[in-house]
Amino acid sequence: MTPHEMIYKRKSCRSFTGKPVDAETIEQIMSFDMTPLYPDIKVRWDIVPRNQVRCICPWTTPQVITIYSEECEGWLENVGFLFQQMDLYLQSIGLGVCWLGMGKLNAKTVPDVPGMKFAIMLAFGHPKGNVLRHSPDDFRRKSLAQIADQPDPKLEPARLAPSSVNSQPWYFTHEGDTIHAYCTKASIIPDMNRIDMGIALAHMYVAEPETFRFFRAETPPEKPGYAYIGSIA
Ligand SMILES: Cc1cc2nc3c(=O)[nH]c(=O)nc-3n(C[C@H](O)[C@H](O)[C@H](O)COP(=O)(O)O)c2cc1C
Repeated sequence: MTPHEMIYKRKSCRSFTGKPVDAETIEQIMSFDMTPLYPDIKVRWDIVPRNQVRCICPWTTPQVITIYSEECEGWLENVGFLFQQMDLYLQSIGLGVCWLGMGKLNAKTVPDVPGMKFAIMLAFGHPKGNVLRHSPDDFRRKSLAQIADQPDPKLEPARLAPSSVNSQPWYFTHEGDTIHAYCTKASIIPDMNRIDMGIALAHMYVAEPETFRFFRAETPPEKPGYAYIGSIA
């Protein structure tokens, strides 16, 4: 299956065989090409053994992806945008994946990366059994009418996107052919929600890579209770 097809089938995986992903596949993963939302923001990522990180979750994978970035305007959205492409890719090659907001670096084993801040990690590995969904009906998500001013089918990929504690912090408005994206301000996990916004935008990009164009409008319409993230034309 392609990464695009995975948008309609993917599911966070929390049950793994424990067998490490082999060196050849790791090499293939390392050479996977991701498109940034903000090309000027420097990002670094590594695949590290699980003992280099800490997480209170009751399941584990032998390897995880740790993600660092320069900390600047849009950095968390950029991380979500980049690594949701990775999430879809990993699932398209038969691996299980879960974003790990609860994960922390183990300060004793992971050195600081100068000029970069740790953003988040992704757990991945061989899934136990089939974790994929059969159809969009299997997703527990808000309706299009709840997340946008118009029930626009173009937003379906964003609607199905994963988010921290399934918070789905996004709202979309239309102005001609432009779609404005907003993130709720009523959040107990604002940084995670910025990553979530990048994830939803990544689904829009993967669904229509040829036409996706992201920009920050100078005077976007205000949406009370929401922060403006950017626009898609
Ligand atoms: C930024 C982010 C952080 C997340 N952190 C965790 C986590 O720490 N532990 C966990 O079990 N799931 C985590 N998840 C997975 C979400 O709970 C999951 O995506 C959401 O409930 C929707 O379910 P689905 O991914 O199966 O569609 C995270 C997801 C995102 C996008």
